[in-house]
Amino acid sequence: MTAKIVLLGSGELGKEFAISAKRLGCRVVAVDRYADAPAMQVADAHEVVDMLDGAALSRCVRRHKPDFIVPEIEAIRTSELLKLEKAGFSVVPSAFAAHMTMNRDAIRELAAKELGLRTARYAYASSAQELADAINSKAGTKSGVGLPCVVKPTMSSSGKGQSVVRTKAQIGKAWKYAIDNMRGDRKVVIVEEFIDFDYEITQLTIKERASLGGGIKFVEPIGHRQERGDYQESWMPCPMKSAAKRAAQTMSAAVVERLAGKNGAGIFGVEFFVRANEVIFSELSPRPHDTGMVTLRSQDLSEFDLHLRAILGIPIPEIRYAGPTASAVVLASRESERTPRYSGIEKAMAIPSVEVRIFGKPTTRKHRRMGVVLAQGKTAGDARNIAARAASLITVR
Ligand SMILES: Nc1ncnc2c1ncn2[C@@H]1O[C@H](COP(=O)(O)OP(=O)(O)O)[C@@H](O)[C@H]1O
Ligand SMILES: [Mg+2]
Repeated sequence: MTAKIVLLGSGELGKEFAISAKRLGCRVVAVDRYADAPAMQVADAHEVVDMLDGAALSRCVRRHKPDFIVPEIEAIRTSELLKLEKAGFSVVPSAFAAHMTMNRDAIRELAAKELGLRTARYAYASSAQELADAINSKAGTKSGVGLPCVVKPTMSSSGKGQSVVRTKAQIGKAWKYAIDNMRGDRKVVIVEEFIDFDYEITQLTIKERASLGGGIKFVEPIGHRQERGDYQESWMPCPMKSAAKRAAQTMSAAVVERLAGKNGAGIFGVEFFVRANEVIFSELSPRPHDTGMVTLRSQDLSEFDLHLRAILGIPIPEIRYAGPTASAVVLASRESERTPRYSGIEKAMAIPSVEVRIFGKPTTRKHRRMGVVLAQGKTAGDARNIAARAASLITVR
């Protein structure tokens, strides 16, 4: 066995990470709140645990005594990860990184206040009234976030509970939507100035082990498009002016160094909005990023391979790119507890260059991500068209 890994979160990203780890002879214990989650289907063992329950989380880790605890999601009792790290367990990329990114506010404060990164104007609110006050300029004091703006629960992911507010009349509804769809028990939202960006990117950034020099490495920027706060398609290359690209790399390095610390290692997905010459930090994942699924096809070392190498302290040589590549998601259209059935996969895969990954999620919800299509083309635009067309041929029932 190369190493024993407890994977906290067993979705599609965890599944691909588990496959990378299995290929290198690791033992993987996949953990999630529900049985038959995607990563559990390829892992050596699995546990169904409420990872927001600190005691249950600790029992699970101590039972398996892993070499590495690898979080795959944000909704984990990260204060327990801090304790486990103190007790000698290795948390990836670091317990601090997981803890700071569990809620949107902690990482935003670190990025904007401590590191001075450019972000959208923002404020927090813990009631509908506070939200209205945060948006509207407060009489005689500092101005508010203004309209339009984006309201998000401080704990949520994949756009859950997130909405754009364009008029004052929509504020109450946005508050309720955020609170009804948040994770955890903190009724706090972040409200951000709406950035009318030209495009947005994920800057995958790797922090290597201190034993290898602790260097920072970058994957080429990934362009992506989101709907309802959730990723629909991503592509590489995503051409950027060299100054903008450098700015994204400099900001990524700063936040990754801070979160990983001296001993941390792993891949991070750092998100930016680009508007004219401005590069605006949005948020980050201290782990593989959903838009980074395009790297399953765009290069020799996927974001999952890179994460694993960084964790195990294996060198990361220069990445070899395979040319313009895109990913497009396959979504469910309705809620059902029945095992999903897929049709049209053979039609999609009849298109040259197209590959399909079905995650194997046991149930569906409207807009739930069930699979992804990968395609290559002459240009990134061409690859996007092919991936989108192939994804549209697949239906989930
Ligand atoms: N302040 C903003 N201005 C414009 N678009 C935004 C803003 N915040 C979020 N979005 C859009 O919503 C998407 C999801 O928001 P994000 O903060 O990344 O949440 P999540 O953690 O769910 O990915 C972003 O990728 C972007 O497309
Ligand atoms: Mg995001």
